[in-house]
Amino acid sequence: MELVIARDKKEAIKKATKIISDLIRKKPNAVLQVATGSTMIPLYNELVRLYKKGEINFSEVSTFNLDEYAGLNFNNKESYHYYMNRYLFDKVNIQKCNTHFPSSNKEEYETEINKHGGIDLTILGIGINGHIAFNEPGSSFKSTTREVKLSKKTLDVNSRLFPNIKKVPKEAYTVGIKTIMKSKGIMLLAFGSKKSDAIKKALNGPITKDVPASVLREHKNVTFILDRDASQGL
Ligand code: GLP
Repeated sequence: MELVIARDKKEAIKKATKIISDLIRKKPNAVLQVATGSTMIPLYNELVRLYKKGEINFSEVSTFNLDEYAGLNFNNKESYHYYMNRYLFDKVNIQKCNTHFPSSNKEEYETEINKHGGIDLTILGIGINGHIAFNEPGSSFKSTTREVKLSKKTLDVNSRLFPNIKKVPKEAYTVGIKTIMKSKGIMLLAFGSKKSDAIKKALNGPITKDVPASVLREHKNVTFILDRDASQGL
């Protein structure tokens, strides 16, 4: 496991973008498993900047999103489809047919990942309760792509992006912990003091399904990239 504690968010994003761009340069048809959320916005902005400078080419890259709300129309501004188009896909030369999202297609999603030769790099955020993708506390380490119920905490946190909490879908589709752990490489980004408790539990606490991110320590090629605030409990 590699732990990077960057001076600030900007430096953390630089480090993360370098890992992604090095991978794509080495393997132009790299398969990325990608996250949404506020943490990823500066990362995608930086990838778009590098693309515009001619430093990254997404024409052969494939992506598999980690999660998506159930029952939201793809044109809905809160859907993860909309988010990905807005922050990345519409701004780079990725082919939309090479982008994938989990849905009721569960087994097919796993099969499709395998057909692509597996995930080269999973890019993760972390929830304040230690969730990764939408694998809430209590998720089995053997879990694969499935429909899940979101925890009260996640509904509360994610309601900031919706008109009110009642509009937040209570169910979502997510890849499983096993799906994530099968990736060849994993990178988790966390910024700000509100993530410090989850990071402390994930890195220093017991490896337990009560803190889904703690399982990542069992992966052979995982990098945690934090800013100072997120690392303050370590
Ligand atoms: C959401 C997403 C996760 C994301 C996490 C952190 O619920 N399902 O994939 O990593 O929460 O989000 P943020 O970066 O906005 O804090």
